[in-house]
Amino acid sequence: MTRAPRLSVLLLVLCLPICLTAQVVTIASDDYAIALQVDALKRLETVYFGPRLADPADYAAIGGQLGYRGTNEDFFNHAYTPAGTWNVAEPALEIAHADGNPSTELSYVSHQTQTLEEGVSLTTIELMDSLYQTRVRLHYKVYSAPNVFEQWATIRNGESGPIMLKKYASANLYLRNERFFLTQYHGSWAEEMQPETHELTAGTKVLDTKLGTRSHLYGPPTFRLEFDQPATEETGKVLLANLAWSGNFRFEFERDRHENLRLIAGANAFAAEYQLQAGESFETPHFIYTYSEQGRGAASRQLHRWARQYRLYDGEGERLTLLNNWEATYFDFDEEKLVELFDGAAELGVDLFLLDDGWFANKYPRNSDGAGLGDWTENREKLPHGLGYLVKEANKKGVQFGIWIEPEMVNPKSELYENHLDWVIRQPDRREFYYRNQLVLDLSNPEVQDYVYGVFDRIFTENPGIAYVKWDCNAVIYNAFSDYLDREGRPQTHLYTDYVRGLYRVLERVREKYPEVPIMLCSGGGGRVDYGALQYFTEFWVSDNTAPLDRVYMQWDYSYFYPAIAMCAHVTNWDRTASLKYRTDVASMGKLGFDIEVDELSEADLAFCQQAVRNYKSYSDILWKGEMYRLQSPYEHPYASFQFVDPAQARSVMFSYLVSRRFETSYAVEPVRLQGLDPAKRYRVTELNLYPDAHTPFDGSAVYSGDFLMKVGINPAVTAWRQSVVLQIEAVE
Ligand code: GLA
Repeated sequence: MTRAPRLSVLLLVLCLPICLTAQVVTIASDDYAIALQVDALKRLETVYFGPRLADPADYAAIGGQLGYRGTNEDFFNHAYTPAGTWNVAEPALEIAHADGNPSTELSYVSHQTQTLEEGVSLTTIELMDSLYQTRVRLHYKVYSAPNVFEQWATIRNGESGPIMLKKYASANLYLRNERFFLTQYHGSWAEEMQPETHELTAGTKVLDTKLGTRSHLYGPPTFRLEFDQPATEETGKVLLANLAWSGNFRFEFERDRHENLRLIAGANAFAAEYQLQAGESFETPHFIYTYSEQGRGAASRQLHRWARQYRLYDGEGERLTLLNNWEATYFDFDEEKLVELFDGAAELGVDLFLLDDGWFANKYPRNSDGAGLGDWTENREKLPHGLGYLVKEANKKGVQFGIWIEPEMVNPKSELYENHLDWVIRQPDRREFYYRNQLVLDLSNPEVQDYVYGVFDRIFTENPGIAYVKWDCNAVIYNAFSDYLDREGRPQTHLYTDYVRGLYRVLERVREKYPEVPIMLCSGGGGRVDYGALQYFTEFWVSDNTAPLDRVYMQWDYSYFYPAIAMCAHVTNWDRTASLKYRTDVASMGKLGFDIEVDELSEADLAFCQQAVRNYKSYSDILWKGEMYRLQSPYEHPYASFQFVDPAQARSVMFSYLVSRRFETSYAVEPVRLQGLDPAKRYRVTELNLYPDAHTPFDGSAVYSGDFLMKVGINPAVTAWRQSVVLQIEAVE
């Protein structure tokens, strides 16, 4: 690929005096930096994105090296590109001003950097349209050690009448490089996180969603971008990004005429223009990214560290192992059956029993997914003594009790729908369309927010012992129309934004009153996972698909963005062709749970599961708090290997899974090089999760140096007869 010719040396020289005196704003983490510079017209340009420079004074000299800064037709690197004036590329901001004029210019006014806490700073840059007095603040929050940048914008209407925001990106990055490779993720129910990588060519590539809620069903707000060439786990330039927003999003990747990349990320403005009254402000969602020049592994470990320390709810805390009854019973259970199932949880040795869907509604009992959603009182036939009784019975057996709710939704066959039609998102005069037989409640309405909060609060107030919640969200928004916005005289186009804001308001109230409760984020599986929601949730349901082979791939891809402590993985009977051991070993790499009928297990199966739970409890601190290494990709090898290492580099666990059963490839012939160990330490390698009476080549007698394990490696001896292998690697004195 050839680059467009640069401007002449003459122009470069002419520009030098301007650049040298220009105002430069530097935003730097421990290892990487962004430099912005104010041009002669007071426009803020991105002049640098890359490794941090040793001498901060050097950032001022970068602009002078860029030959394309001469004329307007060459200008693509604005830090927050406005529409309607000099720009002819994709804008970050589009405003219809109070007088209807569609043009915006943004001039640099000032900037300041504050330290928020040790290792976290916030740079705020003020820009203004001097013709209209409307202001934009660009915010850059930097988490120094994990090299994570969080960007958002605040737009303030300084005019005398209402303005309409027609586009309002969170961030507008400018990345200079020869080539860019984008990995996007798509999928559907039970097929989450399917990666696809391709080189970005001239023009604009758009990733977006318009589903409203459960908006990530077909594609999450997350991507991986690699520079020059596709990276590897250990080499290459990698940017991992996530929009912290549980609603519609839009990422635009535009290669400009210099072949550089303009990346515009934010909420999707599709059908979502936002009106601001005079004096009002609008804060965009936050765009979060990390960058590394040491490959995908280093980039994802940065993001994991950041998530645990700063974002994921209780990210550095503990988690509960559990037994769930969804696949074991579906809607078919009663009090007696549940109390029997508690014995299974106790026998397995897990911490908690999670009661799933089907426990509520009386006029239209929730005996299928066709009725009852919205009527959150215990079904008297199934649970005559209520939830409180179940809490007590579970506790008697030494098990905690948790519950499934889906409070944002309603079945048309419900009392809630009959009594509060105005709370439902629907077009009043049109045919209704359903997703899983249900509709979405209008969370832009404060009354509905109170109701949704009340569902949670009432369950907890009436049953104080409840110890866990699975919060589901199964439907997308059809017929986007809010009765509330209509009554309030606000534009209907506010609905997509106000829904998500309403949801976050509810979750904030929940967290204020119930800071201790672990809550699983579920959306028909992983239909809504992002760092906006995860500031309230301790973990998320990766997928309803628990077939372990599919899970190896999904957990591999999720692991670029989310730490293992956040990923719920359950042993189920979804795929009975896989051995119980394979299913358990795959689930043991996330936050372990079971969804099986324990009393149907053979003696040997039960003994195996009990041992696996004990093992898990012995090493879960390494998964939850340690570093993760993806050693061998299932996309490139017949088996996949993952490794976790504790912060002291004294203990490690390695998981290997056969992913191809073709004869030639169904056994591991090469050793796998480990990572993250101390080369000077010596480690004993032992196999865990052995099925009763199974033989192992890893009986704990072999001890290797960290140097050996990282340079030569170890062969996990995966074969068609040993399809999954869990190795414990422990330093010896
Ligand atoms: C969704 C979830 C499942 C289960 C069902 C219950 O599909 O993803 O795990 O909770 O709802 O209806």
